[in-house]
Amino acid sequence: MEIVRVSNLQKAYGDNKVLRGIDFKAEAGEIIGVIGKNGAGKSTFLEILMTLKPYDDGNVLIFDKELQALSTSQLEHVRKDISAVLQPTQFYKTLKVVELLKLFKAYYKSPIDIEQIITDFKLEPHRKKYFDKLSGGWKQIVSLAIAFLSEPKMLILDEPTTGLDPHMRNMLWIYISEYNGRTGSTVILTTHNMDEVELYCDKVMLLNEGVNEVFDTTEAILSTGYKSINEFYLSKVSI
Ligand SMILES: Nc1ncnc2c1ncn2[C@@H]1O[C@H](COP(=O)(O)OP(=O)(O)OP(=O)(O)O)[C@@H](O)[C@H]1O
Ligand SMILES: [Mg+2]
Repeated sequence: MEIVRVSNLQKAYGDNKVLRGIDFKAEAGEIIGVIGKNGAGKSTFLEILMTLKPYDDGNVLIFDKELQALSTSQLEHVRKDISAVLQPTQFYKTLKVVELLKLFKAYYKSPIDIEQIITDFKLEPHRKKYFDKLSGGWKQIVSLAIAFLSEPKMLILDEPTTGLDPHMRNMLWIYISEYNGRTGSTVILTTHNMDEVELYCDKVMLLNEGVNEVFDTTEAILSTGYKSINEFYLSKVSI
């Protein structure tokens, strides 16, 4: 089942044409890594998929609906099935971790058990700490835990593992893989870590000079002779 279809997507900020014709699609159950250098337009692309940013031209269909043709209430409906973690993460400063989780559980009417989430995300030592007082990496983990609470059909993650230590990075990927396997949800993410792309992503989109220079399965890219996705990236993208 097709979840997202993007054709000839164009987006400029003033004279800066960031996206110059992106073609992309995501099927149910796929984990897709969007890669490219700093400023390539990855976050812009994800924000458009999250329905947070308007675009200038082209089509973006999510669950078969063209985003810019939707009314406000139709858009709300589409948003119910999407969860996203953006950067930087800002949450209510006066709430403790466990309070935040409870708040979002109620908001999403989530059937997920908060205690299970606390265990899965290793949050026990932090449950009574104020979100504001957590380290950057733990803020990231709590934000991700909240994103899963809504049991989204599509999960959009902008650099979810940046700033996480190796154990937390591992834990997060195990959780993403398990969630994806269990629910058949689609995960679209950006990362600058090419090892993660190679290990966990089914497909890779390389954004370069405003276009999807490569959009293929990780397997197909590696079968063309690259030793790793890192080697592929370095050979395709100049500084
Ligand atoms: N709100 C904005 N207004 C004006 N220009 C913007 C805005 N957001 C992003 N840009 C510009 O658009 C381009 C793409 O930015 P974007 O954040 O999408 O890149 P990115 O690929 O996510 O980069 P990074 O890897 O550093 O996160 C950059 O030139 C950036 O300066
Ligand atoms: Mg970015």
